[in-house]
Amino acid sequence: MLRTCKPESINLSGKNIVLGVSGGIAAYKACELTSRLKKLNANIDVIMTRSAAEFVAPLTFQSLSLNQVVTDMFDAPKYWEVEHISLAKKADVFVIAPATANIIGKLANGIADDMLSTTAMATKAQVVIVPAMNVNMYENPVVQKNIEALKELGYIIIDPDEGRLACGDIGKGKMAEPAEIVEKLVEVLMPKRDLEGKTVIVTAGPTREAIDPVRYISNHSSGKMGYAIADKAAKRGARVLLVSGPTNLATPTGVERIDIESTADMLSKVLMHFQNADIIIKSAAPADYTVEEYSSQKIKKSSDELTLKLKKNPDIAYELGKIKGHRILVGFAAETNDLIENAKTKVNKKNFDFIVANDVTAEGAGFGTDTNVVKLIDKDGEVVDVPKMQKTELADVILDKVSEIISKRA
Ligand code: PMT
Repeated sequence: MLRTCKPESINLSGKNIVLGVSGGIAAYKACELTSRLKKLNANIDVIMTRSAAEFVAPLTFQSLSLNQVVTDMFDAPKYWEVEHISLAKKADVFVIAPATANIIGKLANGIADDMLSTTAMATKAQVVIVPAMNVNMYENPVVQKNIEALKELGYIIIDPDEGRLACGDIGKGKMAEPAEIVEKLVEVLMPKRDLEGKTVIVTAGPTREAIDPVRYISNHSSGKMGYAIADKAAKRGARVLLVSGPTNLATPTGVERIDIESTADMLSKVLMHFQNADIIIKSAAPADYTVEEYSSQKIKKSSDELTLKLKKNPDIAYELGKIKGHRILVGFAAETNDLIENAKTKVNKKNFDFIVANDVTAEGAGFGTDTNVVKLIDKDGEVVDVPKMQKTELADVILDKVSEIISKRA
């Protein structure tokens, strides 16, 4: 969720922003973006594609940024040794606004054939893409596929707005407003450290309940939601213990990961670290039942039917709710019906401070997806709708709410 940007309180002095401008009518808005960033004392280097230079004269960006503008990679170097590498290294953040279907396609497919694409590909800085184009181009499945591919690679995409486009069509494709872009860049350049000094336990992924040495009961949780929360909490300064069921995900930087298999396993590992925790976020999907009798040998398929007797697993969240004390306990609810009612029951029963309720049958929500659509419901019954967004973004929304609770208590 974007922070409200109070320009007078933000100083980007010492921060290097590389702004790529590709060829679209929205290039004129990139002038305002440059001006706003300059007012926050950032250093801005502008790279324009040849077509961008047809829309706005490079001199405009040069005057606004007070820096040379790069328009062609075969120009005689002005003050860099190898310009695209030098700018790529210099960038603290790299923003492309407007980003046409062409530059998006190049980045998603590894094509580097001009100054902007080569520099964007050579940078290790966070890249922020701000698409702007005709609505039909934007909705073209190839463009959407490229945008999704970039999101998966960690590029930040600022969605275009809806409205009347330069071509006269009405729809989604207008470049996001410069103020919104500035807010996102500030967020990247000056990340919040509001969880410094806090210890956060995040549970993530599925559990596996072994039936015999080769079979188990599990569910479709990929761990993406929990790993995103762990990653963001660490970036916000917390010590993070990630108690994780089996997933294919890499451990986020700075996070201590504790692998578990079964729900009983998860309970014992969480309890082991509970005393030192300030915040516990239960995004895992622990199996509610386990087999009553584990077979130490592989069960043979000797008969047409096989009946497994299951017994209830401990409810970790419920157990924690009884002993949570001053700790903040956040739950999730994976529902297929009566989302709000069921989630409210869980908030009360498990003593959560708030719950993140996802209707796992909704498009783009729940298990395995990169996005989620949720409602945040607190113990007073207040419901906040959170629209569909990347799990990485939702992680920050959840942590913002945790942070709000901490501030209210202080
Ligand atoms: O991992 P992903 O693919 O990204 O998918 C994300 C998710 C759908 C798994 C996640 O968003 C989610 O909803 N997690 C909770 C899943 C779940 O178990 O929901 P529940 O309604 O059954 O449980 C309610 C709460 O109790 C949850 O916080 C759960 O972690 C906890 N619980 C449940 C059972 C149990 N035995 N012990 C628990 O602590």
